[in-house]
Amino acid sequence: AQEPIIFSGIQPTGVPHLGNYLGALLPWVKLQQEAQDGTKLFFSVVDLHALTIPQEAAQLRKWRREALATLLAVGLDPKRSTIFYQSSVPAHTELMWILSTVASMGYLSRMTQWKSKLQLPDDATLDDSTARAQLRLGLFSYPVLQAADILIHRATHVPVGEDQRQHLEFSRYTANSFNHLYGPIFPTPEALISPAKRVMSLKEPTSKMSKSHADEKSRIILTDSPAEIRKKVKVALTDSEAGVTYDPVRRPGVSNLIEILSHLNGASREEIVREYHGASLRALKERVAEHIISHLQEIRDRYLSLMRDSTGYLESVAEEGAEAARANSRVTMQHVREAMGL
Ligand code: ADP
Ligand code: NA
Repeated sequence: AQEPIIFSGIQPTGVPHLGNYLGALLPWVKLQQEAQDGTKLFFSVVDLHALTIPQEAAQLRKWRREALATLLAVGLDPKRSTIFYQSSVPAHTELMWILSTVASMGYLSRMTQWKSKLQLPDDATLDDSTARAQLRLGLFSYPVLQAADILIHRATHVPVGEDQRQHLEFSRYTANSFNHLYGPIFPTPEALISPAKRVMSLKEPTSKMSKSHADEKSRIILTDSPAEIRKKVKVALTDSEAGVTYDPVRRPGVSNLIEILSHLNGASREEIVREYHGASLRALKERVAEHIISHLQEIRDRYLSLMRDSTGYLESVAEEGAEAARANSRVTMQHVREAMGL
């Protein structure tokens, strides 16, 4: 039987927030902890994906390094997982070209990411005048690069958030299209959908916590100091009802705090509500803030010391990771070339 190969990626677009951490990074760390000996894990800083919107070179350089430091700080171990910059492994883009010869334009045009990036409605088509004026080929075809990221490592499992399910479905479809034409080269990758409920914005708890919200108090980022965390949680939007109850529809702010606490201390929502029954929202907030602080403390310390490091440690991790990822991708490209007559 095929040993599991796990692949996932993170875009270098700034220090991750609590939603990214609980929804993506923490599940990766858990997969690493629970992985059997034969399981291979690949985690990539997908810098080429960041280019689907224009980037400033100095900014991207800084964000790439920050993303790498983040992966190590949250607990990914370069001895156990292959951690690398996507652009250091040219086979990702080589396979992208190959896959683009089988990828369906119709399927890509129905996908929603390019529409949301251009602020078009989900049912917009390529006939839309904004799409014609602004849509770049790279933004349109970025799911093909994502498929290549996964398939170049022959990944069998891809941990993703619910919002990425559509992209993984496209990767599966494209893998099957290729296999149908050229033979069984790629495993059909399976989604490992994060069980965590979405973390909601602290300021607008009916929408998810996101780096795209203008108000920085709407999110906690992994490098926030204890004082910043206390302040953000203290001013988080709740309601004027007394007591602590879980009711995401009527009380989204309070329910979000309960969810966050439940993620961090492992207690169920019911247990938390029972414990805080009759307590004030202020007491709940204080408790939530302290849990976030103690949980993030070690991550923040490690992150800051990695970013301060001047011994070339991060660079050496990236180089070793790239070496291992290139070696693994070479095996796939050999099969692909052979199957296609290249
Ligand atoms: P953002 O919305 O801040 O731009 P991304 O879209 O870059 O975040 O998401 C990166 C990863 O983090 C994805 O796997 C996504 O599912 C996860 N994620 C993002 N926001 C949240 C959230 N609020 N709660 C849980 N997971 C999230
Ligand atoms: Na997003």
